[in-house]
Amino acid sequence: MTREIIIAPSILAANFARLGEEIAAIDAAGADWIHCDVMDGHFVPNISFGADVIKAVRPCTAKIFDVHLMISPADPYLEAFAKAGADIITIHAEAGPHLDRSLQAIRALGKKAGVSLCPSTPEGAIEYVLDRLDLILVMTVNPGFGGQSFLGSQIEKIRRIRQMIGDRPIRLEVDGGVTRDNAAAVAGAGADALVAGSAVFRGNGRADYANNIAAIRAAAEAGRVPKLQYGSTSLLRTGASELVR
Ligand code: DX5
Ligand code: ZN
Repeated sequence: MTREIIIAPSILAANFARLGEEIAAIDAAGADWIHCDVMDGHFVPNISFGADVIKAVRPCTAKIFDVHLMISPADPYLEAFAKAGADIITIHAEAGPHLDRSLQAIRALGKKAGVSLCPSTPEGAIEYVLDRLDLILVMTVNPGFGGQSFLGSQIEKIRRIRQMIGDRPIRLEVDGGVTRDNAAAVAGAGADALVAGSAVFRGNGRADYANNIAAIRAAAEAGRVPKLQYGSTSLLRTGASELVR
């Protein structure tokens, strides 16, 4: 057995005028996590939404809120996102000088801690914080906008990070330009959580979203790495049950 694939639709691609309904729709359509892209117009060249919006839509689903902070600094806002209902809080390795301290702060708030790497950041940036992590998020576009093309250069990074993780119960998530056409390659390199925005919110509501999610999931499952390359099954299962609601 390998860990189940997580599909995390990014609400950045939802209709913001009906955000609560869109979240309920992807929940019913089979989303595992709800991926929330927070952008500050400073760390990335775009502004999206903040903790108040997350708090407002939190009651729309019981699923895990996977909050991706593309903000700098992040530390002053961690508590607000924790209180808003985030389950996983992911910060960027490039967003501040004290990644180790920031990751400790997330766990001290009782939340799962994630770190994200921009495409140009090498995997060595997280080598000494692995034991503070519940999730690693590899950006396969330059963060800031939905609907960009997948950067194939990141496949090798995903593969290397999967090796670095070893037996640790850390989720390896990929974000940016993920579609049913590249999901197999991403899972084959070792990713077990796939974010998808425009590839999920395509069509007209729940039925279309369900088809889109199912197609990405099927492709990822077909391409996934056999368990022996991942290491210990029991540890992998422990990690999966902690991060699947
Ligand atoms: C990019 C965001 C992504 C993005 C995903 O800065 O972090 O989550 O919105 O959207 P697609 O799947 O459309 O690339
Ligand atoms: Zn994201």
